[in-house]
Amino acid sequence: MEYKELIKTAIKYRERAYCGYSNFHVGSAVLFESGNIYGGCNIENSSYGATNCAERTAICKGISEGEKEIKAIAIVGDSKTFTYPCGICRQVIAEFAAKDIEIIIAKNEDEYIIKNLEEILPSAFTKEDLNK
Ligand code: THU
Repeated sequence: MEYKELIKTAIKYRERAYCGYSNFHVGSAVLFESGNIYGGCNIENSSYGATNCAERTAICKGISEGEKEIKAIAIVGDSKTFTYPCGICRQVIAEFAAKDIEIIIAKNEDEYIIKNLEEILPSAFTKEDLNK
């Protein structure tokens, strides 16, 4: 099943988190329209603001390989609660996804919530607002 495969990939990439400052491990996996999946982890920096979230790592990997549109994205955090994408990641997802895409917020392969983009980033500012 697509969700399980995405969650599994996110969990695998979470192991690669470079997160010595927060010690909060995050993994993500993005399914693009092409059918290709890219995984990513959070990559922190001694200059904290230079940190890359797991979602953006995975998205940038795909886009830089020529992928165009996100079909679904999974996020797996490190806590007992569900880890939702941060505000910056929501905006980056919005750049490459339709409002109804599936955002899979998972604790593990069996426990997950599915939200669409409009639910977690209502009335988003997008390229349409720039008439692009
Ligand atoms: N983090 C993510 O990777 N994704 C999110 O959407 C939330 C936050 C990371 C960034 C940082 O390395 C750590 O979690 C703590 O904020």
